Amino acid sequence: MRKFRETGVVENVKIARDIYRLKLKIPDIVNSVEPGQFLNVYFQDSPKIFPRPFSIAGVDDNNILIIYKVVGSQTEKMSYWQKGFKIKVLAPLGNSFELDSENDVSYVLVAGGVGVAPLMFLRDSLFLMGITPHFFIGAKNINELPIAEDTKSKLYLSTDNGSLGFAGNVVKHFKSMLGSIPKPVSIYACGPNQMNKAMAKLGIEQGMKLQVSLERVMACGLGICQGCAMNIMSTTSDSHYSLVCKDGPVFKGEEIILTANER
Ligand SMILES: Cc1cc2nc3c(=O)[nH]c(=O)nc-3n(C[C@H](O)[C@H](O)[C@H](O)COP(=O)(O)OP(=O)(O)OC[C@H]3O[C@@H](n4cnc5c(N)ncnc54)[C@H](O)[C@@H]3O)c2cc1C
Ligand code: FES
Repeated sequence: MRKFRETGVVENVKIARDIYRLKLKIPDIVNSVEPGQFLNVYFQDSPKIFPRPFSIAGVDDNNILIIYKVVGSQTEKMSYWQKGFKIKVLAPLGNSFELDSENDVSYVLVAGGVGVAPLMFLRDSLFLMGITPHFFIGAKNINELPIAEDTKSKLYLSTDNGSLGFAGNVVKHFKSMLGSIPKPVSIYACGPNQMNKAMAKLGIEQGMKLQVSLERVMACGLGICQGCAMNIMSTTSDSHYSLVCKDGPVFKGEEIILTANER
């Protein structure tokens, strides 16, 4: 159930350049959270600062995992948190990825940078169900790759500068491997807006099912402030507004590509 919780930092380790893995002890939600959901982190020493949203990257015993990148003032603050530091979170928030109803589908996860977070949780869930997904992860360079090996997926790494794996962006890498992945495929993507749009376009062109986890700058994260509204133009109904925090963050590919304010 969604509610405010006091929690403590169990671990906060650097895993790549400016990228950290944070473990928070939240025992009462570890069995109910679903891949795609996120939580709001509050900053008690700065009560006027809006909370910051982070995808749930997995569960581990009594803990929730977050993978975050230092991009501004609050994530920088987070990078100094030590074991035992107390914080407040609101969790769980948002919808979740839907599993494919077909039995023999190939699950393909496509992540750009820290977009890896919700897909790592999805990968864990699939693995527990006996499914080994194809996992494409792209970063600017070798130092910014959040993971470099994986026992729970067939991993495909790419770097923009060619310092590790395929040289080029993750969408190009996925396209280059498409022929070798058994059909039908169901794609799950999360990354920068440009990557999400490119994946959604590709999904439609190739007739592949696709779900994308979107990021928008959020204030409340609760559906109150309307700050994360996105104009969706569906193929089946008129254009309407959706809130990324409440109706998302996971959307179908065709909704993303037809989003009016993104064209
Ligand atoms: C549903 C959701 C899930 C997210 N999951 C993760 C995650 O798992 N790991 C992670 O590292 N980040 C994630 N983010 C982004 C994260 O919330 C922002 O990076 C964080 O709020 C930045 O805070 P800051 O104070 O350090 O930076 P700020 O000083 O607030 O901003 C620094 C820069 O980052 C941009 N930015 C801030 N918030 C967002 C946002 N929500 N989306 C895109 N750009 C933003 C700003 O425009 C600015 O350019 C997620 C965002 C959403 C909406
Ligand atoms: S962030 Fe306030 S409505 Fe979505």
